[in-house]
Amino acid sequence: MIEIRQIEPRMTYGIRHSVLRPHQTLEDCKHDTDHEDHAFHVGAYYQGKLVSIASFCMEKHPDFPVEKQYRLRAMATLEDFRMLGAGRLVVNYAEELIKEQGVNFLWCNGRTTVQEYYSKLGFKVHGKVFDYPPIGLHIVMFKYLDFIEADI
Ligand SMILES: CC(C)(COP(=O)(O)OP(=O)(O)OC[C@H]1O[C@@H](n2cnc3c(N)ncnc32)[C@H](O)[C@@H]1OP(=O)(O)O)[C@@H](O)C(=O)NCCC(=O)NCCS
Repeated sequence: MIEIRQIEPRMTYGIRHSVLRPHQTLEDCKHDTDHEDHAFHVGAYYQGKLVSIASFCMEKHPDFPVEKQYRLRAMATLEDFRMLGAGRLVVNYAEELIKEQGVNFLWCNGRTTVQEYYSKLGFKVHGKVFDYPPIGLHIVMFKYLDFIEADI
């Protein structure tokens, strides 16, 4: 049974470090956006253990003609707890919180290695693959949070 709830920024740092930035310092795992006014963080708990995290901040991507946008950052699930639906539940939960704020657009710089994961969650690709050293290849992915199929 997976439980989803909002968590404090500091609670994301351990999984960010071990899953996303193992070759960097814990300090590198902190984002400048973590404590912004509209930023929030969501965690999935499996049998009481935090196993999946993602962070969300209000940030506009200049390519999209949508005034209010949220950005998804640092999505990660511990290796032993993948493919259980934790990541999807985290994003779905966040999408409800984002919609409650009157925002219907979510985007991320997704690693190309997990592009299919984001596609399964309803994200579409935008633009070209780009390198984001030292992490690797990324692509912008985006999603409208209403039920109307929309493209830019
Ligand atoms: C990407 C990641 C967060 C997915 O987390 P997860 O909790 O395993 O995802 P879920 O179990 O909720 O999967 C949701 C759907 O995506 C699919 N999926 C999950 N990981 C996938 C992958 N790597 N490639 C393709 N599909 C994937 C699942 O099969 C599932 O599809 P279904 O509903 O049709 O069965 C996790 O693999 C991870 O932390 N990867 C390493 C870190 C990373 O790259 N993070 C993204 C940074 S941009």
